[in-house]
Amino acid sequence: MSEFDHPLIAAIYDLDDDRGDLDVYLELARDTGARSLLDVGCGTGVLAVRLAAGGVAVVAVDPAGAMLDRARARPGADAVTWVHGALDDAPPMQVDLATMTANTAQVFTTDEAWARVLAGIRTRLAPGGRLAFETRVPARRGWEAWTREHSHVRLEVPGYGEVASWEDLLSADLPLVTFRSTNALADGEVVTAVSTLRFRERDEIEASLADAGFVVERVFDAPTAPGQEWVFVARVF
Ligand SMILES: C[S@@+](CC[C@H](N)C(=O)[O-])C[C@H]1O[C@@H](n2cnc3c(N)ncnc32)[C@H](O)[C@@H]1O
Repeated sequence: MSEFDHPLIAAIYDLDDDRGDLDVYLELARDTGARSLLDVGCGTGVLAVRLAAGGVAVVAVDPAGAMLDRARARPGADAVTWVHGALDDAPPMQVDLATMTANTAQVFTTDEAWARVLAGIRTRLAPGGRLAFETRVPARRGWEAWTREHSHVRLEVPGYGEVASWEDLLSADLPLVTFRSTNALADGEVVTAVSTLRFRERDEIEASLADAGFVVERVFDAPTAPGQEWVFVARVF
């Protein structure tokens, strides 16, 4: 089960309504004239719904039912084909563009899982189709701020009231980083989730893309996190 599969965690995720990080994917879809999109790890569906509103045929996949419940409740969600599950559960397709936004690429912690998702995306891309995703730069050691001291916030969460929320770094055994998110409600209920993310180096990602049959087209700093995250755009021929 995905650590995102809890209504409170999905609601907290959706509090971040400044999704400027998605602009790079919206621009790529527009600039390449993509008519169809596969969004892997779509979460609460912000990108999927925005692109579908512009006439793009969107298939959006996520194993966390609580995230998909929020996605399906968005205005315009009916225009998207939602798949509850992993990419293997998605039907065959031939899309112009595939995306993994908000560092979703880092949830694939083993070489096998990463190779499998790249292969699954490749078979679902039309000739000339592109894959775009971002991932955190290991050298920036972003996990060092994933501590209670640095991350503690009090949030007002619709339907839940005030929630104290923070992260505790459990281990940084590179390339794997494990942390626990804690969300404490005023009534004493506490919801925790443990996540492990893989921090891959740029050359490792480029090699894995080549192994999966992609040609790397561009790698650049994420405009909303320069120096902290790379955006990869790769193409199949
Ligand atoms: C950080 S969130 C990003 C969500 C969304 N892409 C966004 O931009 O807001 C990571 C998402 O990856 C999903 N996820 C976890 N494991 C996955 C897997 N094996 N396949 C696809 N998605 C997965 C989680 O459920 C979660 O919704």
